[in-house]
Amino acid sequence: MSKKTFYITTPIYYPSDKLHIGHTYCTVAADAMARFKRQTGYDVMFLTGTDEHGQKIEKIAREKGMQPKEYVDGIVAGIQDLWRLMNISNDDFIRTTEPRHEKVVQKIFKQLYDQGDIYKGEYEGWYCTPCESFWLDRQLVDGKCPDCGRPVQKAKEESYFFRLSKYADRLIKYIEDHPDFIQPVSRRNEMLQNFLLPGLEDLAVSRTSFKWGIPVTFDEGHVVYVWVDALSNYITALGYLSEDDSKFKKYWPADVHLVGKEIIRFHTIIWPIMLMALGLPLPEKVYGHGWVILEGGKMSKSKGNVIDPVRLAERYGVDALRYFLLREMPLGSDSLFSNEILINRINSDLANDLGNLLSRTVAMIEKYFGGIIGAPSCPNAEQDDPITAMGAALPGKVEELMDGMRFADALTAIFEYVGSLNKYIDITAPWALAKDEANKERLATVMYHLAEGLRIVGVLLSAFLPDTAEKIRAQLGVDAAQYDWQSVQQYGGLPEGTKVCKGAPLFPRIDVAKELVELEAINKAPAAPEKAEKPKAEEASKPEITIDEFDKIQLKTAKVLAAENIEKSRKLLKLTIQVGGEQRTIVSGIRGSYTAEQMVGKSIVIVANLKPAKLCGVLSQGMILAVGDGDELALLTTDKPMADGLDVG
Ligand code: MSP
Repeated sequence: MSKKTFYITTPIYYPSDKLHIGHTYCTVAADAMARFKRQTGYDVMFLTGTDEHGQKIEKIAREKGMQPKEYVDGIVAGIQDLWRLMNISNDDFIRTTEPRHEKVVQKIFKQLYDQGDIYKGEYEGWYCTPCESFWLDRQLVDGKCPDCGRPVQKAKEESYFFRLSKYADRLIKYIEDHPDFIQPVSRRNEMLQNFLLPGLEDLAVSRTSFKWGIPVTFDEGHVVYVWVDALSNYITALGYLSEDDSKFKKYWPADVHLVGKEIIRFHTIIWPIMLMALGLPLPEKVYGHGWVILEGGKMSKSKGNVIDPVRLAERYGVDALRYFLLREMPLGSDSLFSNEILINRINSDLANDLGNLLSRTVAMIEKYFGGIIGAPSCPNAEQDDPITAMGAALPGKVEELMDGMRFADALTAIFEYVGSLNKYIDITAPWALAKDEANKERLATVMYHLAEGLRIVGVLLSAFLPDTAEKIRAQLGVDAAQYDWQSVQQYGGLPEGTKVCKGAPLFPRIDVAKELVELEAINKAPAAPEKAEKPKAEEASKPEITIDEFDKIQLKTAKVLAAENIEKSRKLLKLTIQVGGEQRTIVSGIRGSYTAEQMVGKSIVIVANLKPAKLCGVLSQGMILAVGDGDELALLTTDKPMADGLDVG
């Protein structure tokens, strides 16, 4: 029997700016859902991408003296890097500048025109460039865009129109008959009351005043309105109207479009009407999530209050940031971000509750049983039953909450169980049991329930915190086969005889006061430039040097013997290296890209005759060579194994 399918999408992002933590929120939430569905046996299609056309992008590119495509290429690469960093498991990434998208949008537009749903007219009204939205006089609020409050420009141009009005009654009926179509319910009421019931105007769906869009095939000078272009991504990525539409047949209609609340209007009015006109089924659900806000309002570049997810992920780890976003931000409502809330969550839930539970459990199994998990052969109903019942019920509970897109509640349920396991340690007092050999079996039973509890927690966390779940698995020493969804359907799936293996703490505890001061400074510091903005020409153009000048630089091969973090710094590593017969110390700022452990044993190239200098109190005798792309560094090494101490040149 073929698997059930699940198709989830995020909005496709405008490559107009660096993405901030608000954008990251939506993609991480969709990722948790996609991973969860895969884990529970679905054939999942998870789509994200970039929305690259429109006047806004054209304008930014022009201001930077670049072609729009050249400009977006750089930004899109940064967005893809961010998703890789955040461990996003998307199955496809669609760019609206790809031929597979553009060709199909042209076909869709032509089809709607041929069947009379698109007609030519003249548009007279207002256009909000940042929102790429048309407005009529009566819709403006104080003469400004009703969505974002920014100034609008008068627009009068020949335009094609889409007969939204023709489909309005059908859509109202559809929304009334399908109460789950628009979620949460508050958004559904808002769409009906504010937009649909007062009556829909036909929509201008082509522009002639700029060029950066998909050309209308049958009328030169017109480009397709960016929202018609963008919304189509959900089916063009599946191969709709292409030679191979097997994915479209398999995955459409989508199960969930996850979108921010300000764009739900496009997804629940324009998009369903486009689909109705094309004779296609509508998505099961459009979920409008709230915003990540800061004290002082929504994040925006103009307010200068954007929070950079890359910085946070590098500082605390990807899973800590994922946890914070999913646990602290109930999907439907706006949620406040602050450094303090973030750090407290990491400390209390991840470092204390989860991290300590794992390290204590593994340490006790090692200390009392040489690392071997025994059998739960000595029960104590009063102590054990509550914990085993909770562990048995948890997978079902998490599944139910995830089906309702209640990520934060699902994580709360998992962490309540973590809390109960910690209390179980207090109640059973293993250290007291260990004093008397007669209690050995009871002690083994307590250890079993702790390890089994952690196994269940790890399996359930894998959709939310994939790396942490893997670390828990490795420390418990269980095989992948005992670490999947099926294996936690029955309590007690952990095989006795499993050997635990102590590892590093899952999440180091953070000193809140010290950290807050540092974070404040970091968030205020200017962001690293986007790839597209790199002054490549200047970087390349150092003055010419002669061969004699080059000869003054002594490059040598070397081998890293030992490496340690320099405590006073977040970036520096102290390396002990072998260069021929000599050992030296080199201080290197490579820690953001390589850990101390990763550096040991590496063959590297160094500048051997650089004047020694003290860095963070440590004398550095030379410099290692590395190449950097943004903050990511890669060591330079030799193509074949070579001895250390050889001259490079
Ligand atoms: N390109 C359109 C979407 C087209 S979908 C066919 C767009 N792009 S966007 O880059 O401006 O926004 C993408 C998503 O990020 C939106 O869902 C938006 O709500 C979300 N967010 C932007 N700022 C946000 C917060 N501060 N908090 C949460 N989500 C935020 O709109």
